[in-house]
Amino acid sequence: MLQQIKPTKTKSWQALQDHFEELKKESLLSIFNADEERFDSFSVKQNGLLFDYSKNHFTAQTQNLFKALFQEINVKDAIEMQFSGVCINATENRSVLHTALRNRSGEAVLIDNKNVMPEIISVLEHMKLFSEKIRSGAWKGYTGKSIKNIVNIGIGGSDLGPKMVAEALKPYQDENLTLHFVSNVDGADMHETLKKVNAEDTLFIVASKTFSTQETMANANSARDWFLQFATETAIAKHFIAVSTNTKRVKAFGIDPKNIFGFWDWIGGRYSVWGAIGLPVMIAIGADNFESFLAGAYAADKDFREQPFEHNIPMIMAAVGIWYRNFWGANNYAVLPYDQYLNRFAAYLQQADMESNGNSISRDGEKVNWKTGPIVWGEPGTNGQHAFYQLIHQGTELIPCDFIASANANHPLKNHHQKLLANFFAQTKALMIGKTAEEVLAELEAKGESKEEISKILPYKVFEGNRPSTTFLFDKLTPFNLGRLIAMYEHKIFVQGIVWNIFSFDQWGVELGKELAKSVLNQMETGQISQELDNSTKGLIATYLNWRE
Ligand code: F6P
Repeated sequence: MLQQIKPTKTKSWQALQDHFEELKKESLLSIFNADEERFDSFSVKQNGLLFDYSKNHFTAQTQNLFKALFQEINVKDAIEMQFSGVCINATENRSVLHTALRNRSGEAVLIDNKNVMPEIISVLEHMKLFSEKIRSGAWKGYTGKSIKNIVNIGIGGSDLGPKMVAEALKPYQDENLTLHFVSNVDGADMHETLKKVNAEDTLFIVASKTFSTQETMANANSARDWFLQFATETAIAKHFIAVSTNTKRVKAFGIDPKNIFGFWDWIGGRYSVWGAIGLPVMIAIGADNFESFLAGAYAADKDFREQPFEHNIPMIMAAVGIWYRNFWGANNYAVLPYDQYLNRFAAYLQQADMESNGNSISRDGEKVNWKTGPIVWGEPGTNGQHAFYQLIHQGTELIPCDFIASANANHPLKNHHQKLLANFFAQTKALMIGKTAEEVLAELEAKGESKEEISKILPYKVFEGNRPSTTFLFDKLTPFNLGRLIAMYEHKIFVQGIVWNIFSFDQWGVELGKELAKSVLNQMETGQISQELDNSTKGLIATYLNWRE
């Protein structure tokens, strides 16, 4: 059982509050100028990764206080509980063992005294054999053609993870294969995808942990109907496979049991890309690259368990996040990859972070009276610079930013990469340093502007600076480094959930909408609108029914 400690009642929380009152008087720049060693002291270098958190309102004292907080809250014990299969997802009565999917230690991982590793290894072997058959062209469709298009049908964790990773590792993909992802119940998603593929050379992967999600089942059924316009029922086995924990339902759908790739209820949807849900990724990049993806995550897992706080990147990320969320009043953070291949990273992280820590009931069943998970958002640089950075630089909200980039690009246009990185470095500097009124004045005077014009325009050109950011610089966005990056965020989310005394691995908050949608659909189909609905919902549905062609 995870402990139930109210963070705000700990000694360290109070000490952090006092420390905040002092530190808020100092600017980022002043703490930088006071310490020549600051970059060295507040960055962590690990083979191929530089993690720089020096541009944050974070001092040696902040560090010590968070270290003490994590000790008071017994974060280390909680980590070991997670890794060793203790049932920490108490509201669903489950262990949380996505880390076992990438366990490369050769050691057993037990749930109720049963080692889960043999099953994990067997599914991984099944994935390797299958993906090799597709990649080599040995797997034939109903007309004898090899597979060229893979359509993954899934939503949430059964879509965002594989889609983001496939996109990120595009340069490692087999160019003879095209991956498509269909998630939305909006028929436009499936319709537009089906326009791009041929039944003869397309493989549909129906990915659903429960195999009952409305969106996925609707899409899977439409894909099957479409397919049957060209082929017969017997061909389905060659073109539809499933990734699911619900073998019974998959068989009922008509998929050959040999082509079910299993996972288990102790793998949360949003943490599932490391196993069978990652199958489209493995097909695209090959088993060896997928192995390195897992190895990167395993390296991050080991560091997370073994490194002291000062070298423990996820712990520091968690501390920085809690610092801004609970003490500095930031209700969000931005994730800004300067890497087009990471264009789905923020979307992926939204589910990982917000579905995990978007909770307001504590582990002791009471309403929390401290802030929990922040809003996560972002877009790749430099596109974001020309859209929303204005607000980050000069708006009234505090927006801590994570900047992510690699020294070497995965494409041949090197001069683009240099420009991209110039922007990347310039932004974190600009956020911290800003531009003073004196600097603006000098600039305008040098341009020969009149006194009148200067006094009119000057305040708008001032940048307060003092805006925090954290930087991840990798040598290259390899499968290994991507695995590492994702795992570090997962662990950050975990530590924050432990400190906030919430259950990070359930997602009851998505249930109500699902239930109501079912009942509303039923009412729309029968035309019997319940009088118990509120007037607005009733009015909306009535108008829809009226306008429906
Ligand atoms: O919408 C919530 C959710 O339950 C997610 O947690 C999950 O990733 C997604 O739906 C899809 O569920 P499934 O894989 O069972 O179709």
